[in-house]
Amino acid sequence: MPLYVEKFGGESGALPWPVSRVLQTHRTQMASTHMRDLFAADPARAERFSLQVGDVLLDYSKNRITDETMRLLMQLAEEADVTGWRGRMFGGEKINNTENRAVLHVALRNRGNHPVIVDGEDVMPKVNAVIEKMGAFAGQVRSGEWRGYSGERITDVVNIGIGGSDLGPQMAVQALAPYRHPQMKLHFISNIDGAHVKAALESLNPATTLFIVASKTFTTQETMTNAHYARTWFLAQAQEDGHIARHFVAVSTNREAVTAFGIDPANMFEFWDWVGGRYSLWSAIGLPIMLAVGAERFIEMLAGAHAMDAHFREAPPDQNMPVILALLGVWYNNFFGAQSQAILPYDHALRSLPAYLQQADMESNGKSVDRDGKGVDYATGPIIWGATGINGQHAFYQLLHQGTRLVPADFIVSLEPPTELQEHHDILIANVLAQTEALMRGRTREETQLEMGSLEGGSESSQAGAFVQHKVFDGNHPSNAILLQTLTPHTLGMLIALYEHKIFVQGVIWNLNSYDQWGVELGKQLARRILPELHADAMVSSHDASTNSLINQYRCIRQRTTG
Ligand code: F6P
Repeated sequence: MPLYVEKFGGESGALPWPVSRVLQTHRTQMASTHMRDLFAADPARAERFSLQVGDVLLDYSKNRITDETMRLLMQLAEEADVTGWRGRMFGGEKINNTENRAVLHVALRNRGNHPVIVDGEDVMPKVNAVIEKMGAFAGQVRSGEWRGYSGERITDVVNIGIGGSDLGPQMAVQALAPYRHPQMKLHFISNIDGAHVKAALESLNPATTLFIVASKTFTTQETMTNAHYARTWFLAQAQEDGHIARHFVAVSTNREAVTAFGIDPANMFEFWDWVGGRYSLWSAIGLPIMLAVGAERFIEMLAGAHAMDAHFREAPPDQNMPVILALLGVWYNNFFGAQSQAILPYDHALRSLPAYLQQADMESNGKSVDRDGKGVDYATGPIIWGATGINGQHAFYQLLHQGTRLVPADFIVSLEPPTELQEHHDILIANVLAQTEALMRGRTREETQLEMGSLEGGSESSQAGAFVQHKVFDGNHPSNAILLQTLTPHTLGMLIALYEHKIFVQGVIWNLNSYDQWGVELGKQLARRILPELHADAMVSSHDASTNSLINQYRCIRQRTTG
């Protein structure tokens, strides 16, 4: 099915819910409304369009919305049956219909421990058993009780995984750096580019290194190739296969493949097919997080996510943070033609959050057929991108302020300073506040003229007039401010769960299955076909002319460099 942009020339068709037409009319009415005027007309706007859940505050007042907009968006959620789908997810129904699986990352952090039934079985006992097993293992490694083959303690943990088996733990370990065990360094290897594994292992001592091979399927080519390389690297020094048990553990749903790799099943931490890869950091995939910060902190992160789950489950839609965030995204995506969503953390510890959310969101909602396999004619998931905001200001913010595209942005800020450098933090906070204000207000021509002193006697030369135009900011650019009291395991858990549920709600409104990822298969399949061709003796001619030529160029270089 062609993408809606090709088929409809970039115009998003109407969403399949009756209120969509009303929203389209409303959007036309809103075209000439400037947020500056909305703020001027309503001193209580910020208060009315803000919501606090625990230590997380969402200020969504700097959006192109009125009460009427929010009322219509809530109607959209109702027509799409967000509440019904939410019940189906929490109830363990197989809402991942193309893989016939339940979607239950919420069970992994179900700290209330109420039964969660899948196929007639309460999954909570096995969820809790794995958390306990992880805790016992992490405790031993962190205390030094777990020794390597030479009797030394483990100082370095290397996680080998990719996608959901890498991005989540890596982001969380970075985010929780202040809580990290002082004698434990964490490393993450994902890339199949040999430069990654080589560089990561270069400074490590096999006798004090623990490898976690993390793969839901335990068949992912990149991960398995890196894991085999790591095992060879380890054995080059350790010599005996028997030592592997002290240095390699696995996290997977595939016991057979783990055993075939040579890892003792006793050293395998299990999870289940109802945990999507990109939603798996709450499962045993979070083992590196637990090794870094300890079981107690890890459980605090689960508890934070659970608190957001409870809010999402219980709060009415118009007071529901994930629902509001999702609807605002839909508003710009489907009614303003916004193509992307920027994630801008003003917290160094959250620097990997944009990459993490990229997978969570784009692999979930980057779909062009609906739940029933019917092609859609409306825009679905946006392009998620971003970087730490303060660096972004000196790189890509120019386009946000004066470019021709509408880029809704989420500014994520921790209020308490992460270090004793108060002045640094004050500057950071002043900047993020200035950015949201500038994006919303802009600067009018008149304000610019006054500031430049170019208005003399009420007129200006045409040259000065043209120059002024370069300094005018239209403003009216939407943004959300997400304020954490401070970044802790608990608030990190809340933040990630907030985005997970936002993605869920958007998937419901776009009528998608957000939990499969067939779009990544074709490339993998073709790579498997191309791989043997790279060392074929004869010229390759079975592809299109471009691919043939690229393969053959590589073959020549390869033949030259390998003799
Ligand atoms: O190729 C995409 C993907 O399947 C992701 O969904 C997943 O997170 C990643 O690959 C890694 O998969 P695995 O954990 O099975 O190695």
